[in-house]
Amino acid sequence: PTTRNFNFVVSEMDGAPDGFNKTMLVVNGLFPGPTIEANQGDQIVVTVTNQLSTRTTIHWHGLYQNGTNYYDGTASVTECGIPPGESLTYDFSVAEFSGTTWWHLQLTHVDTQYTDGIEGALIIHPTSYPSNFPTWDEDLVVELADVYHTISSTIVSEYLSGTSSPSGQSGLALETPDSGAINGIGQYDGSTNYFDFNLQPNKTYRLRLIHEGSAAQIRFSIDYHALTVIEADSTLTEPYTVEGITLAVAQRYSVLITTNQTAEPQGNYWIRAELISGLTVSGTNSDIRGIIRYDNSTDTPTTSTDPGVPNSGLSDLNVASLTPAISNTPPSSTKSYTVDFSIGVTSSGGAIAAMNGTSWTPLSGTSTLLQIVDAAKNGSTYAAEGSSVEPDNQFIITEDDIQVVDLLLVNTGPGAHPFHLHGHTPYVMGFGTGSFDGTGLNTVNPITRDTYLVPSGGWLMARFITDNPGIWTIHCHIAWHMAAGLLMQVNSLPSKSSQFDIPQAILDQCSA
Ligand code: C2O
Repeated sequence: PTTRNFNFVVSEMDGAPDGFNKTMLVVNGLFPGPTIEANQGDQIVVTVTNQLSTRTTIHWHGLYQNGTNYYDGTASVTECGIPPGESLTYDFSVAEFSGTTWWHLQLTHVDTQYTDGIEGALIIHPTSYPSNFPTWDEDLVVELADVYHTISSTIVSEYLSGTSSPSGQSGLALETPDSGAINGIGQYDGSTNYFDFNLQPNKTYRLRLIHEGSAAQIRFSIDYHALTVIEADSTLTEPYTVEGITLAVAQRYSVLITTNQTAEPQGNYWIRAELISGLTVSGTNSDIRGIIRYDNSTDTPTTSTDPGVPNSGLSDLNVASLTPAISNTPPSSTKSYTVDFSIGVTSSGGAIAAMNGTSWTPLSGTSTLLQIVDAAKNGSTYAAEGSSVEPDNQFIITEDDIQVVDLLLVNTGPGAHPFHLHGHTPYVMGFGTGSFDGTGLNTVNPITRDTYLVPSGGWLMARFITDNPGIWTIHCHIAWHMAAGLLMQVNSLPSKSSQFDIPQAILDQCSA
């Protein structure tokens, strides 16, 4: 396998992605950060040097880290975080993974940091594509995000303490984004700086859309151009042509577009990234734009209202209609769990999340993985499912052989939540509003993906196979919710997780 080496330096700097100057936390001075591109089977080696005054980590969203759970980059779960001034080399294989994903910082409480800019694309090209899979001429990465002018540590502490936010919201109101960005460029307060792609006419482009934001859903479209979906998260799909796509935080889609439009205005078309935050505060710009140019056209598009794709009869993506390109009948489940969750309010008016009644709190000076490995060395069992020593930070301990787990996520509150389980790509068996009545599951050819939206007041059934040893977090990917404790851990194959030989550099972090 080819080894791909990267050096990431995490630092603080000032930047103005949308024209408003703010403090950012970035990798190598870039927002978004550097793209990691590799082929399936490669070894990826990233040395991360922390120049911040707080700890940091990098998590590789959606990757399996099979055999290297300690490099999953999740503070307090798989490591203690890289202390200020120190570095850590993450070293892992992508033999089993291919597709479009991203990397981001993952502290699991209080601090979110990736909101401030520590994020970037991660593209792994597969060894092969299915026969008859569509083809394209060129590959482009489109990184979308909601943008906040206030540093995330302030937003989060206000959210958790119930003091009013900079924009005057309080309690459970999500902090409303000030604007958004397409590949690091957005517009606020009249700014007319646009990210643009110069494309050649009559070609097919694959756009890899990645939602690297924190809270708002984003609807993506390109004036006059149909989007043919061919990938959802990192799963290749049957081609599905739509007018627009709404991405929840951390979701990805690859779409094909063909540059054969002749509609007015000729040669330049708006890319639209519309933030859907549920809240509008004056000053917010939710209408973020970029430009597709043909043949170096230099004009700015003049279309103000979204024209869609005229006369196409297309509508927006319906996630329930996504079908994997390589059909995969899921194995029957051998075990089921129900996890209900909601966001509540503390007596002081701050937000607090609960999953099965418990809000996740981070360990300090250690990680769950380290505790498990230490317990095994001392001949003791760390915790057993349902036992009185089951730690507060919540566990699902599965049996010691491979299980097929049906995880029913029940959202007992308002608002949809994008859930993500590390280290696995579950089958999304079904979802709906109201309570699950045992029906509505697709057992024939469900989509697999790593980030799925649990509907407001509804349910979602994720089926996954515990074939990857380690401690994996499952959490809502809305940054503020994660900080409020909407997170729990899954231990897959406990007897193997407890035998990991944790690299010395990770052990050293915890005592630093
Ligand atoms: Cu994008 Cu915990 O993951």
